[in-house]
Amino acid sequence: MTLQIRNGRFDVLVLAGPGIQRWPGLGVRALSTLCSDMGLSVGLFGGEGLRVRGVLPSSGTGGVAIVEDSQGRIHRVESRAIVRVCEQTEFPDPFPGWTEPALLPLSSALRLRREGQTVWSPSTAILGAGNRALSFGCELLEAGVAEVFCIEWGAAPRGWEVYRRRFEMLGGRLIEAMPMGLKKKAPLLWEFRVKDAIGVRVLEVAWVVSAGPFASSDGMREHPPGSCLFELEQSGGMTLEEDPQGWTLEEERGRLLGVRIIKALGTPLGASADRSVTKANREQLEESQRRARSRLKRALRFLDAPLDWTHEGKWSSVDARNRLRSFAGVPKKEHLVREVASIECIEEIECSICETACPEKAISISRSQGVFLNESACTGCGKCISACPAQVPVLIQEKEALPVAQITMGLPPWSEFKEKELVSVSNRKGAPLGSAKVLQSSREEGWIKLEVPSHLAWEARGIRRTRFQVEDEWVLKAEKTAASKVEVQLQGEKRMLRMGQSLALALFETGFARGDDRLLCRDGSCRRCEIRVDGVKKLACRTQVHRGMSIQLLDRSPIEDSDLICPCSQVRSHEVIQKIREGKLNSPDSIRQACGVGEGSCRGRACIGAYQRLLQAEGIECSSWIDWRFPWADWTLSV
Ligand code: SF4
Ligand code: SF4
Ligand code: FES
Repeated sequence: MTLQIRNGRFDVLVLAGPGIQRWPGLGVRALSTLCSDMGLSVGLFGGEGLRVRGVLPSSGTGGVAIVEDSQGRIHRVESRAIVRVCEQTEFPDPFPGWTEPALLPLSSALRLRREGQTVWSPSTAILGAGNRALSFGCELLEAGVAEVFCIEWGAAPRGWEVYRRRFEMLGGRLIEAMPMGLKKKAPLLWEFRVKDAIGVRVLEVAWVVSAGPFASSDGMREHPPGSCLFELEQSGGMTLEEDPQGWTLEEERGRLLGVRIIKALGTPLGASADRSVTKANREQLEESQRRARSRLKRALRFLDAPLDWTHEGKWSSVDARNRLRSFAGVPKKEHLVREVASIECIEEIECSICETACPEKAISISRSQGVFLNESACTGCGKCISACPAQVPVLIQEKEALPVAQITMGLPPWSEFKEKELVSVSNRKGAPLGSAKVLQSSREEGWIKLEVPSHLAWEARGIRRTRFQVEDEWVLKAEKTAASKVEVQLQGEKRMLRMGQSLALALFETGFARGDDRLLCRDGSCRRCEIRVDGVKKLACRTQVHRGMSIQLLDRSPIEDSDLICPCSQVRSHEVIQKIREGKLNSPDSIRQACGVGEGSCRGRACIGAYQRLLQAEGIECSSWIDWRFPWADWTLSV
């Protein structure tokens, strides 16, 4: 057999780094569209069909990428500029027990939640309190998990007030604390110690989900400077509605990086024979840059003055109340006559989903000018409620001379309410306020209309659920899945697993997962989930459950060492610190090579973030460092 290597050449290459799940993302599309509009040839390599195996930087600018296609053929692609697209780091700094399988990165937790039937009760802790962490917390609470904690510490950027509000309204708890230790207590139950201002508290959790962000980052870097080798962070969720903040950041960073590359490569921008084309291109480029910069600035503006909805007891404070009633998104008179929307989204965040969803164009988001809700145009259709990812808008009608008011709010997916039923309502922090009567509810449209005592009209914004609803649903779900289970031998014991399910997911559901399994990659590239099936070595993520199979786990017990920064290669933080303090090495690459951090099978996905933060703490500048090692995954060439 001959090994055929094909050659290719582009001006700009955009490559999916290890573990990228959404390809091509919004940032990649913004960058590539801009570059090709300016006449540069752009190659995108990633996804199932074209897996990038590594990059060899050139001595000048750009480099050569090695790409493998679905038939195993190797392609060698040269380019003057290379962009590697990476995921945000999701693992925290080491603490005792951080290598235990109960600590999952958010991407794995999302997969377990959507594809598996993992039990998240009695409680789940989420590390990080950015929008993605909060919205995963809301998802769990809506699915019936009784207790969810979002734990924030250090200088991590905070999520939007509307997400925090929704999380707390659903019963989630925000804690400012440091993780201190994670220890197994019983099957699928862990003891998680955290330290807050009062002292150490012990949480009994099923999982600890690590969502971050654990450090602020501007989302794109070039390393080394002037090399035209860039890294772009993919920060958005799967859809705009899922994560509007990450979506905006990713798109505008992609555009800004596109401008930077076009300027760095210089042609054909300045080389067109037709001067008017050159001028038009320049203007388009300047415009793109200006727009991207200002949107990025706006997207991060909420960090300068984060909004905190203050309460006096269970009532909004006078300040908060006045601020709300004078806000331009809140109706001033029309709600005294009929039902109209109240868009209670005061923080300066970069989101306009409700504006797009409103069929009457009653919402216009221009926060600086204060024009927000045109109450006479609002028909009270409720489309803005279901469109908003944080379910902020409500419809409100105060009935003058009557002791009751009417509010329509987002309906949690678990709810099944009957007309005239009495429900308990809560304030914006989730504290119970009293009862309300259900007038109407629509599961399809996602809203519920309530009659509340008029003094609660501007306070009641959430519905509390009862424990019975949680248990009923859990029982129904368990009954439904029992039918699809088949018997297998797992470590010599009889087990019932779901037929056709990925073994990697099944190991988590049955409590047999190991620390190595946590990355839950889909393509087997990290090779960390090796197991033995019917005596043959296989990857759990690439193997499906079938009746009668015999599964043996390869022994990979976690090493009890809180200093372990790179579990794959068993490198400890103090070894890295020692190398730095010896003073002979001062670049992130040389220190990494000398210590062996990131050399293991996950190629640094679990440890490089913590490694960078450790270097920063030791005074080594590495905010623009990119790990350009070759290859990005273990691979062999068979000829
Ligand atoms: S209720 Fe309907 S018309 Fe009124 S703001 Fe919302 S989407 Fe627009
Ligand atoms: S959809 Fe509207 S109300 Fe909801 S977060 Fe975005 S701007 Fe705020
Ligand atoms: S933890 Fe996998 S390489 Fe460091």
